Amino acid sequence: MIAKHDIEAEAWKLLERSIIYYQCRPIGTVAAIEPGSDALNYDQCFIRDFVLSALAFLIKGKPEIVRNFLIETLSLQSQEPQIDSFKPGPGLMPASFKVESENGREYLTADFGEHAIAKVPPVDSCLWWLILLRAYVKATGDISLFHQKHFQKGIKLILQMCLVHRFAMYPTMLVPDGSFMIDRRMGVYEHPLEIQVLFYTALRAAGDLLLRNDDSTCNLYNSVHKRLASLTYHLREYYWIDLKRLNEIYRYKGDEFGKEVANKFNIYADSIPHWLTEWLPDTGGYLAGNLGPGRMDFRFFTVGNLMAIITSLASVQESQSIMNLIEFRWNDLVGNMPMKICFPALEGMEWRIVTGCDPKNTPWSYHNGGNWPVLLWLLAAASQKTNRLELARKAMKLAEKRLVEDSWPEYYDGKNGRLIGKEARKYQTWTVAGFLVAKAFVENSQHLDLLSFESHE
Ligand code: GLC
Repeated sequence: MIAKHDIEAEAWKLLERSIIYYQCRPIGTVAAIEPGSDALNYDQCFIRDFVLSALAFLIKGKPEIVRNFLIETLSLQSQEPQIDSFKPGPGLMPASFKVESENGREYLTADFGEHAIAKVPPVDSCLWWLILLRAYVKATGDISLFHQKHFQKGIKLILQMCLVHRFAMYPTMLVPDGSFMIDRRMGVYEHPLEIQVLFYTALRAAGDLLLRNDDSTCNLYNSVHKRLASLTYHLREYYWIDLKRLNEIYRYKGDEFGKEVANKFNIYADSIPHWLTEWLPDTGGYLAGNLGPGRMDFRFFTVGNLMAIITSLASVQESQSIMNLIEFRWNDLVGNMPMKICFPALEGMEWRIVTGCDPKNTPWSYHNGGNWPVLLWLLAAASQKTNRLELARKAMKLAEKRLVEDSWPEYYDGKNGRLIGKEARKYQTWTVAGFLVAKAFVENSQHLDLLSFESHE
């Protein structure tokens, strides 16, 4: 086995090799550099993927690339109102971008989903962008960047797009299927936890970044705080599942009419999956994957649950319960490679209907219950935040044992993540960066400042 410091050195070498230059300045990192494989769009810089590279660079004291990235992606943001509904609306940030050149002149092309497989719009990009901007300010103390007029305008456009009233009367954000890390049809439309937690985090970040220098920005600032209060209440109150709540749902009455009813969303007890009643430990709990009319998605989603811990959306008690669940169900949720993107997988007829027979998302593969090493960083940060470092260390050991040997794959397959993903890229950049960030979070709790917020219990 390779020594620990060699693994770190190799990871840094790979991360540096993935850097994209634009007019001689570093501005991002490519998604993967697997020699000999069909690049598809893995030669682009994805906003969500770059967040991991950015955190690694910020922690290392190399903020320049992050600053350049924030500037260039802001210039790609869709700004003008569109009459053409095939074009991105104002505020939207691209999923990914690429440097191209013509007659020696370099330019950037952005993909807002028009090129992506199944044409999925990236709802999470603008949320990550705000979260990263705040992390950059926290790491460097450089407030001059977000004070600039066009940065304030960019922040405003994102907020206006996210806060606008549409047809939903929930504080959560209504989104289409596959509009974030899970970017293929997986039944994650409506009000998925993964987006709601990013929405909450982005609003908290915006609260720190928006300058209040006229009536309109003061009003926007107030809207941010109002929405945050109702969003936090809604997620904590209605998405939370533990044994007590499960008992309540089990005995819910259906079809209640009126304002003050217990079963607000008309969830039927029969929709509780059989696996859950056995699976949930007495001391464990988690936030449900989705909630809507007559619908509670009982699957466990990792990004939402762990980000909720890191950002204090989950209370101290709830955070401990989530970590208890991970500890108790380690084989299911972490297995041989930290960690599962969601649990359990959709199988049989459910897989056919929900994924549309997607051959890449077969049960226990890719987004459908695959293990993604990039998620190690979330487990490390959440362990640090909850003082459960023994869990992070155990997870790090698994990653150290395999990642180098397996050439830093994008994901692993199987119930316990023993197989390298069937179509996984090797040398996936966010696997590499996620490992470096995880290591840093385990070693130093101060790095949590980059992403955490004061708790309002
Ligand atoms: C895949 C993943 C997506 C990721 C992209 C680049 O499309 O589903 O989450 O951003 O690859 O790595």
